[in-house]
Amino acid sequence: MESVEQLDEIMSCRLDTGRRTVKPCTVVIFGASGDLTARKLIPALCHLCAQGQLPYPFRIVGFARRPKTSEAWRAELREAIFSRTSELDAAQWEAFAPHLFYCTGEFGDAAAYRNLGAQLDGFGAELRHNLIFYLATAPGQFAEIAEHLHGAGLLARSDGSGDWSGDGPRLVVEKPFGHDLASAQKLNRELTRMASEKQIYRIDHYLGKETVQNILMFRFSNSVFEELWSRQSVEQVQITVSEKLGVAGRGEYYEDAGALRDMVQNHLLQVLALVAMEPPVSLEAEAVRDEKVKLLKSIRPFETAQVASSVVRGQYAAGEIDGAKVPGYRQEPKVKPDSNTETYVALRLLVDNWRWSGVPFYLRTGKRMPASTSEVRIQFRPTPHVLFAAQCGKNLDANSLTLRLQPNEGITLRFNGKAPGINMEIVPVRMQFDYHSEFGAYTPEAYQRLLLEVIANDSTNFIRRDVVETSWSIVDPIRQAWAGQPLAETAFYPAGTWGPPAADELLARRGHKWRMTSDVAPKPEKA
Ligand code: BG6
Repeated sequence: MESVEQLDEIMSCRLDTGRRTVKPCTVVIFGASGDLTARKLIPALCHLCAQGQLPYPFRIVGFARRPKTSEAWRAELREAIFSRTSELDAAQWEAFAPHLFYCTGEFGDAAAYRNLGAQLDGFGAELRHNLIFYLATAPGQFAEIAEHLHGAGLLARSDGSGDWSGDGPRLVVEKPFGHDLASAQKLNRELTRMASEKQIYRIDHYLGKETVQNILMFRFSNSVFEELWSRQSVEQVQITVSEKLGVAGRGEYYEDAGALRDMVQNHLLQVLALVAMEPPVSLEAEAVRDEKVKLLKSIRPFETAQVASSVVRGQYAAGEIDGAKVPGYRQEPKVKPDSNTETYVALRLLVDNWRWSGVPFYLRTGKRMPASTSEVRIQFRPTPHVLFAAQCGKNLDANSLTLRLQPNEGITLRFNGKAPGINMEIVPVRMQFDYHSEFGAYTPEAYQRLLLEVIANDSTNFIRRDVVETSWSIVDPIRQAWAGQPLAETAFYPAGTWGPPAADELLARRGHKWRMTSDVAPKPEKA
């Protein structure tokens, strides 16, 4: 493919110039000693600071239980960040660190929130009033923290007065948002007593990924592909999010979550919504989110009796990843030795709308797979059974388009061509767009983008209340069908393999097969 420099006329178009106004503010992080804070949030904020993207002035307050000074917290974060490979350099950190402050407090102690208020009062009017509360804690604590913030006069439903020009403080809530539909509804009710929906930013970090954001742009700024984006041309769609990682260190959380709650309910359904939704009437947050929820509501509900034939679950057993032996899930720390938690899910769903009627969407995700890969494959219908197809039969590959979300971010179009030589041989070939070679190495971390969007008051890439509830209503019947049913022997897959055989059978029943871009096209034989 041609590089940007070689295009005959370069036309680029900036869309966000009018949207990114960032005002001086304070970000208060609950769960300041946690892994997410040190691994994602603070590095993301430091990067934004180094790029000059943050407002001035700004402050970050870490709120957590263990007593320590701001200096001690800064030193701890520095150590945590620089002991990992980090793209940050020391000078960037030194410029950023003075903006960090610490506040000691128990999440359940009302006095601690009054202390926080007093600390914020000392920051001056603007930093005291333009507030972001980031809940990076265990999900069970979200409502309690919001309640206390409310009690201390720090968080209230916006009433058009005061802070952030009348919109009120912003509340960022990490996933998982609830445990099932009922608990998500309860949490929504609790939070919306203290903050209006507009003030709540439910995070799904997949929506901050460059390649996930590109799905909408790719679909709706290119007429060639959008013309093909329907049941007329598409035979099936596959979404794969596989990880080599196991759950080591997160056994306690994962035991209760499993792959269905941890990945399918949020990341996979969000990617599906972007791939399959109708064009929004504008790029405004509500217009985009309206279309997403419409799509999710069009998914045919799973009936309990049909779960066994449409959904496959699995759990990794001991095996090998990259040549190293790894334990099975049941041997991981804080996992029950007879656990039935799924570390793998594959499912087939149907979208009952005009565009997609009858087109199967296959979703799969798993831990301890042979590769860490996220991609969406649009598999087009085969050509009619005449000419080449009549002669080649099944050996004529149908066209496909793959959105490679990570790694090797890019897009691959696969089509057929004639292998050079005197023989008449048809081979699949690939046309590739590769982010790295086109734009260089820079792809901002998802959290950088999402944090900046919260500061800029742009909720397009956050999960609206109806979206989170609809997503739970899609997966809940699956969980209910599994309840009390132990995993079958055949559900265990050795670490380092692509899941249980039933996942292949799920597709094979309809003559389909899981495909990935990493499946290498056969090289033509030399004539
Ligand atoms: C998180 C899940 O939301 O996403 C993890 O809780 C998973 O279990 C992670 O490993 C995957 O994210 P990424 O960005 O590494 O694909």
